Amino acid sequence: MRGRFITFEGIDGAGKSTHIEWVAARLRERATVVTTREPGGTPLGEDLRGLLLHRKMGLETEALLMFAARREHIAEVIEPALARGDWVISDRFTDATFAYQGGGRGLPRERLEVLEQWVQGDLQPDLTLLFDVPLETAAQRLANAREPDKFEAESRAFFERTRAEYLRRAAEAPGRFRVIDATRSIEDIRVTLEEILSSF
Ligand code: ADP
Ligand code: TYD
Repeated sequence: MRGRFITFEGIDGAGKSTHIEWVAARLRERATVVTTREPGGTPLGEDLRGLLLHRKMGLETEALLMFAARREHIAEVIEPALARGDWVISDRFTDATFAYQGGGRGLPRERLEVLEQWVQGDLQPDLTLLFDVPLETAAQRLANAREPDKFEAESRAFFERTRAEYLRRAAEAPGRFRVIDATRSIEDIRVTLEEILSSF
């Protein structure tokens, strides 16, 4: 039987990475679980991640490299795992490109839809957990946590647009998305995650 594909999304500092290993551990009671991330997830993809997170580049170039890394990730990791019956959890996937390159940077959505169709065909996550917080909360969490990369150094307006595009994608595909109020404590969020996973 084919495995299931779960993605974690949210603006930087929302808290998604905090929960990935915990969710993976819960799901390992039910299946073999592969955890991975974007951009990245393959040796080539991790090299591209280094460029994407630290080098200045044109907007179209950035979007194309995101999808190039994703193509490799799908072909080398995601599809083979799902075909084996493993479950795949990815820290970000295509919704991030719509949110950051589309919403944040302003690349027309129609361009991204063409690339999405080309690179993924019918592949979509079975479940997307969107960790949603106001920008102030995300910024406060990041300020205490780490040195900003290229995206994390972006403006408040950029993240307003990024968050809005995430919420628009969620409204467009309500069967796939669960929007999580991530302003709450880690323990409270885990209770919600437990509920979502038990009915998935
Ligand atoms: P993301 O992966 O969404 O960028 P992280 O999971 O790395 O975010 O979390 C960013 C920072 O916020 C980390 O220092 C983390 O410990 C902290 N954090 C995560 N979730 C919460 C929470 N629910 N309440 C308070 N702090 C949190
Ligand atoms: P992230 O998972 O936040 O890494 P970390 O938690 O280690 O900082 O992802 C790295 C950055 O890449 C993040 O700021 C969002 C950005 N990104 C895009 O702009 N477009 C994309 O398609 C993806 C997958 C990520």
